Amino acid sequence: MFDWKNDFSVGIEEIDEQHKRLFAIGKQIYELLNTYNGQDSFNSISSLIGEMSNYTAYHFQTEEELFEKYNYPEAQKHIAEHQEFIDYLQSLDLSQIDSNQKDAIMDLLKFISRWIFRHINSTDFRYSDFLIKAIKQN
Ligand SMILES: [Fe+2]
Repeated sequence: MFDWKNDFSVGIEEIDEQHKRLFAIGKQIYELLNTYNGQDSFNSISSLIGEMSNYTAYHFQTEEELFEKYNYPEAQKHIAEHQEFIDYLQSLDLSQIDSNQKDAIMDLLKFISRWIFRHINSTDFRYSDFLIKAIKQN
């Protein structure tokens, strides 16, 4: 489910590498859920949330800088989706998560898979041709 395939490539190596890191986080969440049997996993959950939030910092910045540099016409809509991801992470309540760990892991798993398949696999593909051409021409 979180194995990287070439079908996911947007054709820009730096971005693909960053996307792969998100897949790896997804895989860790999936494994955490699979091995969960009531043990206290709060530290693992919060460190995964921390990794997701680091990801938003370096990855969204990379994409948004390219949008700006090459005047990508759909930048605004795209950036709004990034903001939704950031807002979701910020809305998480750590004490709630601590007391409902299994639900929290399942919610994170749903969130990250939806993101991969809706955002990476669709919104990100919309810039692919545009940016590949723009980068070649410059
Ligand atoms: Fe994006």
